[in-house]
Amino acid sequence: MPDYETFEHDVLVIGAGGAGLRAAIEASVAGVRVGLVCKSLLGKAHTVMAEGGIAAALANVDERDNWKVHFADTMRGGQYVNQWRMAELHAKEAPDRVRELEAWGAVFDRTKDGRILQRHFGGHKYPRLAHVGDRTGLEMIRTLQDHGVHQGIDIYMEHTVLSLLKDGDRVVGAFGYERERGRFKIFRAKAVVLATGGIGRAYKITSNSWEYTGDGHALAYDAGADLIDMEFVQFHPTGMVWPPSVMGILVTEGVRGEGGILTNKEGRRFMFDAIPENYRAQTADNEEEGWRYCQGSKDARRPPELLTRDHVSRCIVREIKEGRGSPHGGVHLDISWIKQKLPHAAEHIKRKLPSMYHQFKQLADIDITEQPMEVGPTTHYIMGGVQVDADTQMSRVAGLFAAGECAAGINGANRLGGNSLSDLLVFGKRAGEFAAKFAKKNSLGKIDDGRFENVAREALAPFERRDAENPYQVQKDLQDTMQDLVGIVRNESEMREALEKIDGLKKRAERAAASGNREYNPGWHTALDLKNLLTVSEAIARAALERKESRGAQFRDDYPDKNEQFAKVNTMIAKAADGSMEVRLEPLPEMPDYLKRVIEENS
Ligand code: FUM
Repeated sequence: MPDYETFEHDVLVIGAGGAGLRAAIEASVAGVRVGLVCKSLLGKAHTVMAEGGIAAALANVDERDNWKVHFADTMRGGQYVNQWRMAELHAKEAPDRVRELEAWGAVFDRTKDGRILQRHFGGHKYPRLAHVGDRTGLEMIRTLQDHGVHQGIDIYMEHTVLSLLKDGDRVVGAFGYERERGRFKIFRAKAVVLATGGIGRAYKITSNSWEYTGDGHALAYDAGADLIDMEFVQFHPTGMVWPPSVMGILVTEGVRGEGGILTNKEGRRFMFDAIPENYRAQTADNEEEGWRYCQGSKDARRPPELLTRDHVSRCIVREIKEGRGSPHGGVHLDISWIKQKLPHAAEHIKRKLPSMYHQFKQLADIDITEQPMEVGPTTHYIMGGVQVDADTQMSRVAGLFAAGECAAGINGANRLGGNSLSDLLVFGKRAGEFAAKFAKKNSLGKIDDGRFENVAREALAPFERRDAENPYQVQKDLQDTMQDLVGIVRNESEMREALEKIDGLKKRAERAAASGNREYNPGWHTALDLKNLLTVSEAIARAALERKESRGAQFRDDYPDKNEQFAKVNTMIAKAADGSMEVRLEPLPEMPDYLKRVIEENS
């Protein structure tokens, strides 16, 4: 048996985005030895792509805001299939997590009287997003990293975890490889926190970076955890559509928060055409009121561009399908129009949206202070993920915790913008705290040599294959399948077709080959990513088939309405004893009366 390098920690955190870093800091502060493994370089996590802000009811810009309103907004945005306890903890704890970040050195934009500035975002009743221009995620990661490096955390950059290790029913570590050299490593740990982010790379058009291949979801599933709500994939309404090389890159909702409007090729603000009933009372029915809202007027209602993402995306798809799209297959997003309203609009836009200005200038040769952008929906976020206990973030597998996008429950059927960054902080902290507690009560456990030998053999198999599949082609075919058949608008026959295709792609993935050797070999990495991508894709399609209704991010044209039968259930995915994927419906825990009242009072 080869002698793999072995590392020992009390808590092993997998993923170094906002949730992973926050978990690592908390566990370290609790006095345990922490290892942090990340697929990319430290500081390059996908969290840096989060632009518009962190949602927290600080009430700095509107004193009427508080955790109750934030909780009610989050539940309504999630169409009430959220895990209410997570939404409650999140709304209550987000302000402290933001203030803590400020104390650790985050440089937020400021109100005139020096407090953290907050901007409007879709579905949030009051201006709630603490932000740093449109680079909030970057500032969050910089701050957490600066703070974290002083905590004595051991960091393993550019490592991919291939499998979790178990001792009986408990997780006791992870087995993975160093991406540069291709060497296998064993990480023994008393508790493991998954913080690997999302699954966007299963789709053709996505705002997600290359790391988002559903690793945490698939590792947890293989280890025996449940996945919950996997059908709910968020398509952010505004990704770039042109030029093709940058299709899908995020155009922050902050553009609309600052007054940007969506128009079709006729120049009409089509979002006024379809305001959903449950948001009608809160939504402006004329342009002037919408603009006053973005300017902070407290008696104005939100413009329809700031309705929830699921709704805005579907309206954009409708415009495109009905032939009213922009030249390159999107719609127009225009912030330059505010010149009619503000004397120094161009400077204002560059100050509030510096990344957007540079992104469009450099990538599309568009000056957003003068011209509209072209945008369309892009796969952005998965509301589904590892099912965890709301308070501790532990999955149903002992010693296995999850936080951030790879965990699930807080967002229900649709996440409100900005709730992700606060989720990372709130539940990253909790995962770190409770993983440390668990580690203090448990030993390192035994590891089974046979288990990681098998994983290593499987991982090296692509080098042995001749006359085989190109892993890039398999990934591309999967992305096309998910985009076309399990995308924004779904139906049973297309999803069944997708499942058949996924079956075929699994077989092809088993024949995916890598040439050369283990050093610096992206083809090999892609061959290894396929297993996770296929697992999450199958989970999304199976859960989406099971939910025979349209709710939040899931829109089915064969069941276009909400159905009471699904109003209080979650879909759960688990690995059956024979290795097949099982899907079941599970009732939501009953919401306590005090939270029902909070919702009633804030609807
Ligand atoms: O539009 C945005 O800036 C994205 C934020 C988010 O997804 O939370």
